[in-house]
Amino acid sequence: MNPLLDCAKAAAHEAATVILSYYNTELDIMEKSSNNLVTRADLESEERIVSSIKKMFPGHSFLAEENHPAKRGTSEHLWIIDPLDGTTNFAHGIPHFCISIAYAHHGKIKMGLVYDPLRKEWFSAIAGEGAFLNDIKIGVSQCGALNQSVIATGFYYDRGALMEKTMDTIHALLKQNIRDIRRTGSAALDMCWVACGRFDGYFEYRLFPWDFSAAMLIVSEAGGVCVDKTGRPLGVHSENVVASNATISKDFFKIVEWRD
Ligand code: IPD
Ligand code: CA
Ligand code: CA
Repeated sequence: MNPLLDCAKAAAHEAATVILSYYNTELDIMEKSSNNLVTRADLESEERIVSSIKKMFPGHSFLAEENHPAKRGTSEHLWIIDPLDGTTNFAHGIPHFCISIAYAHHGKIKMGLVYDPLRKEWFSAIAGEGAFLNDIKIGVSQCGALNQSVIATGFYYDRGALMEKTMDTIHALLKQNIRDIRRTGSAALDMCWVACGRFDGYFEYRLFPWDFSAAMLIVSEAGGVCVDKTGRPLGVHSENVVASNATISKDFFKIVEWRD
């Protein structure tokens, strides 16, 4: 029992009810910018999560994707929320999306929760206490070499330099004879799938704190390694993610590292 995790679970539960009530219905799909979608499900999910957490922790601050743009990592008690990660999937009826909630104390992530409401999979971690999938302890894969790995990635909304670099890296990874590459459409789930060993590695060159804050704790508590594209340890302020099991992390990083 942990009050932060219990609070996040209750909030995610409420949000999931909202999201699923809209799933596969006729929804207006709005574009925040080119290819960056938002729906009523995202907006209402965020309101539910924030108001649910506020009831339990009225003095805490929020950094949430849609309508709560707190300054990054400045608050003593900060909740970092992606109310619907995988909106493009959701909006197209593709059954792969989640809710991501992290709690940071003085900028350090202490609790992470990612909920996949269609599979009913709860990924969670409390700092120092390991990572769990539906209350069962999880660990990263045993994959010992890049040529046995399955790697996930994602694209930012631009169709320019970031996309080109991502394509080049995919090409370089395939040249290393990795087993396969996946683009699932949810950064938070990609990372949780690294944490539970379904994927061996994941990289993405432009992300926001709400995409990865909860999952980065889950990956590291599962024994994985999370750095940014230049090799610095991942933090709330990072803008990109390279995550994998510890065995392949050096070789993986050599291929995906990117200094502008
Ligand atoms: C997106 C997803 C996607 C990733 C994008 C994210 P959203 O989040 O996580 O997998 O490639 O970079 O922005 O918009 O669905 O919350
Ligand atoms: Ca997201
Ligand atoms: Ca989102």
